[in-house]
Amino acid sequence: MREALFKTRITELLGIRHPILCGGMGPRVSDADYVAAVVNAGGMGFIVAAGFPDPDEFREQLRRCRQLTAGKGFGVNLYISRQAGGAERLQRQLEILTEEGVHCVETAGASPDSVIPVLRDAGIKVLHKVPAVRYARSAARLGVDAVIVVGNDCGGHPGIYGISSMVQAALAPSEITLPIVIGGGIGTGRQLAATMAMGADAVLMGSRMLVCEELSIHRDYKEQVVQGDGTESVVVKTGLRDHHRVLNNDSAKAVAALDASGASEFEQYKPHVIGALATQAYQTGDSSLGMLDYGPAVAFADAIKPVEAIFDEMLDDAQRALQRLSQLRSCV
Ligand SMILES: Cc1cc2nc3c(=O)[nH]c(=O)nc-3n(C[C@H](O)[C@H](O)[C@H](O)COP(=O)(O)O)c2cc1C
Repeated sequence: MREALFKTRITELLGIRHPILCGGMGPRVSDADYVAAVVNAGGMGFIVAAGFPDPDEFREQLRRCRQLTAGKGFGVNLYISRQAGGAERLQRQLEILTEEGVHCVETAGASPDSVIPVLRDAGIKVLHKVPAVRYARSAARLGVDAVIVVGNDCGGHPGIYGISSMVQAALAPSEITLPIVIGGGIGTGRQLAATMAMGADAVLMGSRMLVCEELSIHRDYKEQVVQGDGTESVVVKTGLRDHHRVLNNDSAKAVAALDASGASEFEQYKPHVIGALATQAYQTGDSSLGMLDYGPAVAFADAIKPVEAIFDEMLDDAQRALQRLSQLRSCV
């Protein structure tokens, strides 16, 4: 594993070598094998609890990850839902992850207030992910350990305000005193160096990692991502005020048409957005249907490679960016 290039509040908090986090990817995309590869390469990854609704399978994933990481800490992504059944599901997930000794949790969705006491008691670090700095301020008041702020470039849910990652990265350190992770559109070391310079403690990636060897999604899909240049990423589901950045496939086009028609009922969207379509796409490699989270950082995904090789390239690139800065400084 590469020498550490940065020491930050996040590398210290999580006990990791590099300030590189790989966000949870569902359904069943970031599983034990992928998360273990991220952890073993010196970063932090998160198994998506919602991707494994069968409690035994979820527990099995956690045990497999612990085995593959030889006891190093790893994380779980918890979706906090206010919908019917959400609280019971969360309760079951919490029981399992506290029993299995998970190191940290990436929370997303609604406020994590209900889970913080349980996680704190279990000594599990909480990193709450939000799509705008204003939500990070509220999360900080709840007592989370760190905030992850993702900008409009992010694959998945960029929030309704559409604020770019560049603005979030510059704004967050002046508003938040907690350790800060910045995500959305990141896939290079020069972005890593830039966010560190702006005051962040780590970066978070998703889309750029879709091509890593260790992900169990179909190879045809990874090849498609390699070909992508980011222009096939689109934000849809605006009619439901649940903005979703995805691959612009047949389902996304149908959803965009609903948005344009003024549709606002979930039942109208349901046939196009059910999770089973995405699961099928990742399994078969046929990406025409399903909401497939997909951000413009795929532009940096130039080949299918192991996680460690991707991290190495990023760290080399970050090193070059630091050298460039120091050369620019010595010119004045
Ligand atoms: C295929 C894919 C699936 C994702 N699934 C989830 C998820 O289930 N839960 C979640 O909180 N974030 C999810 N995300 C968002 C990532 O965790 C992360 O916030 C985002 O990818 C960062 O932006 P980037 O894609 O520009 O790197 C997903 C992203 C991708 C690309």
